[in-house]
Amino acid sequence: MTVALVGVGNLGKALVESLLAASYRSEDVILIERAESDRAQLSSRYGCRVEAEFPESVRLGSGDVIVLTVKPQDAEVACLSLKPHVSADVVVLSCMAGVPCEKLMMLLGTRKVVRAMPNLGAARRESASALYIPDSLSNEEVQHVLSIIDSCGKGWRVDREELIDVATAVAGSGPAYLCWLAEQLENVAVESGFSPHDSHALVLQTFKGAVSVLEQSSERFSELRERVTSPNGTTAAAISVLDERVAAHHVRDAVRAALRRARELGS
Ligand SMILES: NC(=O)c1ccc[n+]([C@@H]2O[C@H](COP(=O)([O-])OP(=O)(O)OC[C@H]3O[C@@H](n4cnc5c(N)ncnc54)[C@H](OP(=O)(O)O)[C@@H]3O)[C@@H](O)[C@H]2O)c1
Repeated sequence: MTVALVGVGNLGKALVESLLAASYRSEDVILIERAESDRAQLSSRYGCRVEAEFPESVRLGSGDVIVLTVKPQDAEVACLSLKPHVSADVVVLSCMAGVPCEKLMMLLGTRKVVRAMPNLGAARRESASALYIPDSLSNEEVQHVLSIIDSCGKGWRVDREELIDVATAVAGSGPAYLCWLAEQLENVAVESGFSPHDSHALVLQTFKGAVSVLEQSSERFSELRERVTSPNGTTAAAISVLDERVAAHHVRDAVRAALRRARELGS
């Protein structure tokens, strides 16, 4: 079974790493990347076949999957060049933000289009991925798509396509929001005397520790926060500033802006 990955940038690389770390062999993975400067590096790094365009000599068929990881604005051009290679048995798994299944089905001339929203965690097989599979796939095809998503981390199958946009705003963009918060913590550590190196390590380990504690317990985020916030303590001082400035409102608005943008990309 061949997996052809089209557009090997940030997300594409993370997905290749997951696939190769799972049960996929490099000879079964074809990488299509138009950026010439990246191709030699991709080939030596992953040992897969790397091409600028889908190779005429390759005939995809039953069990084969094309994974689309180009930017939404490149979707039309990519689909037009792929269309001649998409036979009735090939499944297309789109990881692009916004672009709806119906539009991809029209551009590719097939009903076997699935949408997924993985995130950068895929590079460590720790993606939080949402997946929407329309009725047009056979049980076997569904199982294959699920196995690809499972190889990237944890997956959630959604029954309404619009939830992929929600997953885009929350989980697809999520690692960047957490990095933004980490930057703020790191800045205060540096301005207050820690070296940049130690500030980075201190914040990173704080995130790891918090995730580890949450993973081992059934506590909700709010419960853990309340448990560690002693009245009149340091955490309470910080939270009261966040509450005074209605920071939660701003953060939610920011995530809603991402959701609006995901919907705009699809229209
Ligand atoms: N980054 C994330 O964390 C993340 C998370 C979830 C979902 N996504 C989705 O994943 C997609 C890719 O995001 P990204 O951040 O990985 O973008 P990226 O780093 O720009 O990677 C896309 C790559 O695809 C190449 N490309 C464009 N059109 C092509 C074509 N027709 N054939 C072959 N290669 C082509 C681009 O080449 P050029 O450099 O020449 O343009 C670029 O190298 C987006 O649709 C995004 O919504 C990303």
